[in-house]
Amino acid sequence: MQSKNMNHSIKMCGPSITQHEKNIILKMMDDGWDSYQYVEEFEERFAKWHDRRFCLMTPCCTHAIHLGLIALGINIGDEVIVPETTWTGSVAPITYTGARPVFCDVEKDNWCLSSDTINTQITSKTKAVIAVDIYGFMPDYMKLEKLCAENNIVIIEDAAEALGSSLRGIRAGKFGLFSVHSFHRTKTITTGEGGALLTDDENFYKRCKFLRDHGRSAEQPYLILEATTKYMPSNLMGAMACAQLDRINELISIKQAIRDRYLSNFEGQDFDFTLTSDNTNFVNGCWATTLVIENEAFNSSSTIKNLAFKGIPLRPFFRPLSSMPAYTNYKNKSNNSNSDWLFKKGITLPSHYELDNNTIDYISDHLLKEIVS
Ligand SMILES: Cc1ncc(COP(=O)(O)O)c(C=O)c1O
Repeated sequence: MQSKNMNHSIKMCGPSITQHEKNIILKMMDDGWDSYQYVEEFEERFAKWHDRRFCLMTPCCTHAIHLGLIALGINIGDEVIVPETTWTGSVAPITYTGARPVFCDVEKDNWCLSSDTINTQITSKTKAVIAVDIYGFMPDYMKLEKLCAENNIVIIEDAAEALGSSLRGIRAGKFGLFSVHSFHRTKTITTGEGGALLTDDENFYKRCKFLRDHGRSAEQPYLILEATTKYMPSNLMGAMACAQLDRINELISIKQAIRDRYLSNFEGQDFDFTLTSDNTNFVNGCWATTLVIENEAFNSSSTIKNLAFKGIPLRPFFRPLSSMPAYTNYKNKSNNSNSDWLFKKGITLPSHYELDNNTIDYISDHLLKEIVS
């Protein structure tokens, strides 16, 4: 690996915008203000891409989760199991309903919850589990489905970070009663802010659709049947989503190529690590290349500081949610030590579409000096 000095700023994550997106947005400006035509086109195509029957676009993924939870009737007194290692967007919507998030640990190897880690948290109040495909990794959904079916618990798949991942040939976003994606400005496809809910269940879809738009009567649109949320996306978001979806395979390939370059730089070096990689059953969509370094001495926070001096932005691994002020009231007695360990040992590397090999090598060089020094 031979890297040159960098004299431009390195970006962490961000969109890939081409003339194609601009053309479609301009077209929408001319013909798109009186309908949800682009939203509906995107929903149909995005559902099909996932082999799902139905899709609803939302203003963000957090709203998609909330919409699904209220459609399920999750309420005060209910419990929903969630992994410690995730972003607040997976968990905050549980609190909007008055239900209690119950945190469980994740596995060290794929950073996701498992049937073993949720098993001890199941009570008579457990209504659902939100399984998060963290950094594109996926839990063993086949085992989760068995355990949840035995206990009458609904599975929700949070695939916000897993566009392009697949488990045994099944795409992330196909699991659970419903699944969600995020189109936040940092994600693999983006509409600035944005999200989607996917499901195969027609009644559930109809309920979500009703709750997404003010609880209107289907026959009389100005008759309101329930005072509900309004989580409609704009047609402008829909147009952007269609344009990005046209490029979905190209965009996932770029993300995977970034991961491959990092991986080839770290392979054969004298330290143990897990990276957002593939295995025989699993392909990672590589939204953001993330690395867990197993060396005893490695400390992510000092590495993040040291590399910032070299102009290299690194993101910390997800901090266990119940250790943060917002969630201390929900801290439970279980010892979620894997989540704590991952936070100390994990870092997310720059994964912007504009990264070239030379820049990836520069980042890798500096990181390796930190790890093996
Ligand atoms: C795992 C996960 N779930 C949910 C969200 C929330 O997504 P949004 O910002 O679109 O609401 C994110 C966003 O980063 C996420 O990473």
